[in-house]
Amino acid sequence: MSKSAELARLIQDRAGTEPPEYGLILGSGLGHLSEAVQGVAIPYSDLPGFPHAGVSGHVPQLVVGQLEGRRVAVFGGRSHYYESGRADIMRLPLEVLRDLGCGQLILTNAAGSLRAENPPGSLMLLSDHIAFAGTNPLIGETTEARFVPMTDAHDRQIRAGLQGAAQAEGVDLPEGVYCWFSGPSFETPAEIRAARVLGADAVGMSTVPEVILSRFLGLRCAAVSVITNMGAGLSDESISHDHTKAMAPLGAALLEKVLRRFLRG
Ligand code: HPA
Repeated sequence: MSKSAELARLIQDRAGTEPPEYGLILGSGLGHLSEAVQGVAIPYSDLPGFPHAGVSGHVPQLVVGQLEGRRVAVFGGRSHYYESGRADIMRLPLEVLRDLGCGQLILTNAAGSLRAENPPGSLMLLSDHIAFAGTNPLIGETTEARFVPMTDAHDRQIRAGLQGAAQAEGVDLPEGVYCWFSGPSFETPAEIRAARVLGADAVGMSTVPEVILSRFLGLRCAAVSVITNMGAGLSDESISHDHTKAMAPLGAALLEKVLRRFLRG
């Protein structure tokens, strides 16, 4: 049995075999939503091979259970490329999600905005992305499946559902392009200007590898950014991880409303 199938079995033994309808991966400062799920929490440390989400602001546990009447599997934290140099660090968790029978994934992250009309505390739904970090989680994959089409990587149907939920809640959810920088250093003002020229609306250090892996594994996915700051050089505020964590709850409250409404259907 594959490692992911073994872990899926272990999770099913504890949390039941009903397939989750949605997987959710929670970004910096958003991990607490995993605590709202009524179900079984499994610390990543009980799941051999799962990355230790070593960044503060993440809650390293998988919770499988009910949220707004839907069966979900919520990852309270993720690992980032910059923690290990491995762009495929989230491959095993996503394989496990697939092996649990889950076909849809919603990713969340904290991001810097390049648009004045999308300020800190607001949300952005990813319409597309730019893998500017210059690597790919499928490097080294030997099967033909590695040539993943990325034309419609951000699922239109899930996006429409999220838009509908946002509208119903009176929450603005503009769409935009997310540009993946490797981190962990923040961008320079020149890099932010370059990202704007390239067509980006927001920048961040995560999510893109997981979108690529999701498409590779046949999971449909969409991603929402919580804007915690303006990109470097675009405002006077300081940029830091502490600032990210301090600002994330503002947008996180809106995101939680949208996600709950989305799940309620
Ligand atoms: N840049 C990259 N990642 C981020 C930012 C940023 O400005 N804010 C939150 N995550």
